[in-house]
Amino acid sequence: MSVEETIKKLPKIEQHVHIVGSVRPETLLWLNKQGGLKLPYETLDDLKDFYAYTDFEHFLKVYSMVNGLITHEKYYETITYEMLQNQHNCNVKHVECIFSAYDHMHRGLDFADMVKYINRGITRARTEFGITCNIRVDVVRDYGPKIALMLLDQIKSKGDNVVSIDTGGMEDGIRPKTYEKVYQTAREQGLHLVAHQGEAAGVDYVWECVEYLRPERIGHGVAAAQDLKLLTELSHRGIGIETCPMSNLRTGAVQSLGEHPIRCFMEAGVKVSVNTDDPPMFATDMNTEYLMLHRELGFTVEELHNIGLDSIETSFIDETEKERLRKQFDSEYIKLV
Ligand code: ADE
Ligand code: ZN
Repeated sequence: MSVEETIKKLPKIEQHVHIVGSVRPETLLWLNKQGGLKLPYETLDDLKDFYAYTDFEHFLKVYSMVNGLITHEKYYETITYEMLQNQHNCNVKHVECIFSAYDHMHRGLDFADMVKYINRGITRARTEFGITCNIRVDVVRDYGPKIALMLLDQIKSKGDNVVSIDTGGMEDGIRPKTYEKVYQTAREQGLHLVAHQGEAAGVDYVWECVEYLRPERIGHGVAAAQDLKLLTELSHRGIGIETCPMSNLRTGAVQSLGEHPIRCFMEAGVKVSVNTDDPPMFATDMNTEYLMLHRELGFTVEELHNIGLDSIETSFIDETEKERLRKQFDSEYIKLV
């Protein structure tokens, strides 16, 4: 079997994928029709322009347009199920998906209903493919800490299968410290903690995030590579980095994959996972991420398997589930090498 084929068959974990950022292009066109063609796109070919970004801020604007197509809570079942079907096609066994609730609540959609439909999609996918999935709510920095505290209340009473919070959205200009109370409250609520950081702002933001928010994992983390002391700190505190290599390439966080700091993180003792972020929007999936790491950064099958095992360790699942996945990963890996 070629290395490429082996890589496709490796069992994988996805820790950082936005549900809305996973909408299939065909489904996006369909949603656009349901809503009365809000966007001037009718064919898959038209979408090539839509998915071309000048920079990170432009990407966020396009992402927001996709949000606008979710005009009813029920669409969440379809898009969650399809996201998991795509992940299953890359032999992903467990997914921790990101749900930016307020992107829809400010348009009138209901938190509890959206969570209900997301969980329906998750249950269907688990029944059909055996894939597991939990949810993290991205409070989206742009909306401010008051909205975030309101979302924590919603999670408390209506957050079935929500295991974590996150701060995504704009990064530069919104200091992490602003969210100190939000993270403290979430911690007291027993939620896990993640923050998108070091994707579109400097290393000082990552330091501040570590000090004031004390997350268990950092999404992206690219800027952290500039400071070995910071990486050592992440390693000592056991903070993992959810790397998103193709996303970083497409938004300009790195100029080429060869320059991606994933190896630098690992060499400093930081546990990393490999993730797609917004797969069709960045022309990627988990197989592509692994293949590109192999081609551009020389990752071997064994190294990629070890990343999978580290990702199990840093996932927000209980010890019984971790043990089940470890056994599954090892038994599938042994058959491949
Ligand atoms: N929302 C969707 N994708 C995102 C990203 N890469 N960074 C911040 N917020 C996001
Ligand atoms: Zn993200």
